[in-house]
Amino acid sequence: MFLQSQLFCYRKMLLAQELYCKTSLTDTLALFGGLMVAICLLKFTWKCWCGLRQFVLSEQWQVDLHAYGQWAVVTGATSGIGRAYATELARRGLDVVLLGRSDNKLRMVAREIKNEYGRRTHTIQVDFTEGGSIYSYIAKELQGLQIGILVNNVGMTCTDHFAYFLETPDAEQKITQIINCNTLSVTQMTRLVLPGMVDRGTGLIINISSEMGVRPHPLVALYSATKIFVTYFSRCLHAEYKSMGITVQCVAPLMVSTNMTHNMQVNCLVKSASGFAYEAVNTVGHSSYTSGCLSHALQSAALSLLLPDWLRMSTFLIRVLKSLPNTKTCRRKASQRKERFTVTKE
Ligand SMILES: NC(=O)c1ccc[n+]([C@@H]2O[C@H](COP(=O)([O-])OP(=O)(O)OC[C@H]3O[C@@H](n4cnc5c(N)ncnc54)[C@H](OP(=O)(O)O)[C@@H]3O)[C@@H](O)[C@H]2O)c1
Repeated sequence: MFLQSQLFCYRKMLLAQELYCKTSLTDTLALFGGLMVAICLLKFTWKCWCGLRQFVLSEQWQVDLHAYGQWAVVTGATSGIGRAYATELARRGLDVVLLGRSDNKLRMVAREIKNEYGRRTHTIQVDFTEGGSIYSYIAKELQGLQIGILVNNVGMTCTDHFAYFLETPDAEQKITQIINCNTLSVTQMTRLVLPGMVDRGTGLIINISSEMGVRPHPLVALYSATKIFVTYFSRCLHAEYKSMGITVQCVAPLMVSTNMTHNMQVNCLVKSASGFAYEAVNTVGHSSYTSGCLSHALQSAALSLLLPDWLRMSTFLIRVLKSLPNTKTCRRKASQRKERFTVTKE
């Protein structure tokens, strides 16, 4: 009898223990799940707030760019995004140093800025594909100017369509030119202006990267690699110098209608250069790493979801992209169709 009651008690204890274990496991899992959801919600809310601040509120909360210094230096300032940045900075009251390879174009942009905004300009004619030899000349030209802002914008692509690395025309020369223009220019120009900024304890360096410098993109391998260089260089430099009052902002746009993109039609996905520069300058002080405008930030977020690494790097997608007609061909065909249509009508 005693043994039976002991056994009964023991079985009851076991059952209670099992029940306790089950409940505590369920509770722990529920707690963990709840915590995860809370973290995700917090992250999402933080991202929304950052986006709102960067692209909407920044229009009202514009940073005083004069606080960085009187002069802004822009590389590749004769057309596209560089020209738009130079004009936007002049509109906001800065004097501008314009760097480019064509003296005529430089003088034209300088005249435009002087006439429209009454700002001082200085032009420096250089070809960034030439490599390290040009920087002592640039240093001499910049001497004595209080440079508050540097926009490292100059950049070029290997081809105007998707191509395998070995399809690069004049590869031997082109490889060096692209590396000189897209990466050497960023580091050397930074070396020239950063000491002055550090001495004054303030300064802003804007480096134009690309969405192709956020993730690797096959068929534009060299361009994508140079832009990833710009992205990493900017982010590391910002971490090193922010405590000394220097902001290094990396801007990674998607499509902007410029010569590089064959001046494609502006729409809700493709920004005009001036529209892009206006929004991108607004983000200064609100983010050290940005797509530059709301439309591109949304596209970038969508791309990271819809085009994951495994798909973007797949042979399948590379073949699909390679089979697409390039922009020039499309334009030629469109104009041929238009001509034929006009002749038929006549
Ligand atoms: N457009 C886009 O969709 C897009 C997207 C992402 C990133 N980006 C980046 O944005 C930057 C500007 O691109 P963009 O579209 O404005 O290009 P763009 O219209 O071709 O303008 C490039 C500017 O750089 C100058 N330049 C080119 N090669 C040069 C050299 N070797 N030496 C001196 N100056 C030179 C050009 O001078 P000329 O007037 O004499 O040609 C022009 O002023 C680039 O870094 C590009 O990678 C552009």
